[in-house]
Amino acid sequence: MTPRVLLTHPVDRGAWARLAEHTNLTVWPGPYPIPAEALARELSSRDGLVCLLADVIASTLLDQSPNLRAVANLAVGYDNIDVAHASRLGIAVTNTPDVLTEATAELTWAILLALVRGVVPARQALLDGQWRYWSPTGFLGRGLFGQTLGIVGMGRIGRAVAASAPAFGMSVVALGSRGTHPYPRLERDAFLAAADVVALHVPLTRDTLRMVDASFLAGMKPGAFLVNTARGGLVDEGALLAALDRGQLAGAALDVFEQEPVDGRHPLASHPRVLATPHIGSATVATRAAMADRAVDNLLMALAGQRPRDLVNPYAWPGRCSPSPP
Ligand code: DGY
Repeated sequence: MTPRVLLTHPVDRGAWARLAEHTNLTVWPGPYPIPAEALARELSSRDGLVCLLADVIASTLLDQSPNLRAVANLAVGYDNIDVAHASRLGIAVTNTPDVLTEATAELTWAILLALVRGVVPARQALLDGQWRYWSPTGFLGRGLFGQTLGIVGMGRIGRAVAASAPAFGMSVVALGSRGTHPYPRLERDAFLAAADVVALHVPLTRDTLRMVDASFLAGMKPGAFLVNTARGGLVDEGALLAALDRGQLAGAALDVFEQEPVDGRHPLASHPRVLATPHIGSATVATRAAMADRAVDNLLMALAGQRPRDLVNPYAWPGRCSPSPP
């Protein structure tokens, strides 16, 4: 029987068409993101799901979806999904690694450079008619040349960010001993004492939740910068606000927040030492198309009983995707 699939948001046309060709597809028509009640209702009779990082796939939702065999997340991070529970139920969960590595690394550099050189306030001053002459003391920022970039999480994205550091005259240190890479590996105190910029590139898990807390921030060099293009939940936002207010940190470039979306009323987003962007790490046309392709490939493979390329819970395989009931 043709599998019944829910896509919670329109995606790139090519991937969408492939999904429609091979499945009995429902595309949620909006409003977006899909409300929790609608998701529960729609999913109760589906075999497969392609969802966004904004869609919370909790244990109760999975319990109410007896036919569900596979969940393809349109993101590399999958902290929005209760993977342990999906595994217990034999539901395959997939993500979209690799295809967004360069885009996210680029955005990390873009917001870091813009932050340290004060690009956004300088532009605003120009628009406001405050650029009256070339002043030797006006619009002064900081440079990165000769400084040290501290990377938390030397996975694909962390390594891609590190690879561009020499282009800006920066040296690189890594927090902890994990991963294969050529950079010095430092324990937390030495890492924080060395880094002029700390960049976060770890997934959000129980172990990394609010890892950037008051004590982490207090260990950072006075005047250091923080850049986060991973997940907002890695940072204790109250502690970050306090560190910025007392001038311990010179600034933070934040593409992600603990509760998204945020607007100008958010105390961090509107802070004068913060450059905030709306979770756009992977937001290029080509990257989003590649992510949609990868998610659709994963879902179609799982529903066909073939082990998907980006299975994040291999211990649950084949589970409900088994050709005969498990
Ligand atoms: C991800 O993929 O996890 C990013 O946060 C969005 O592209």
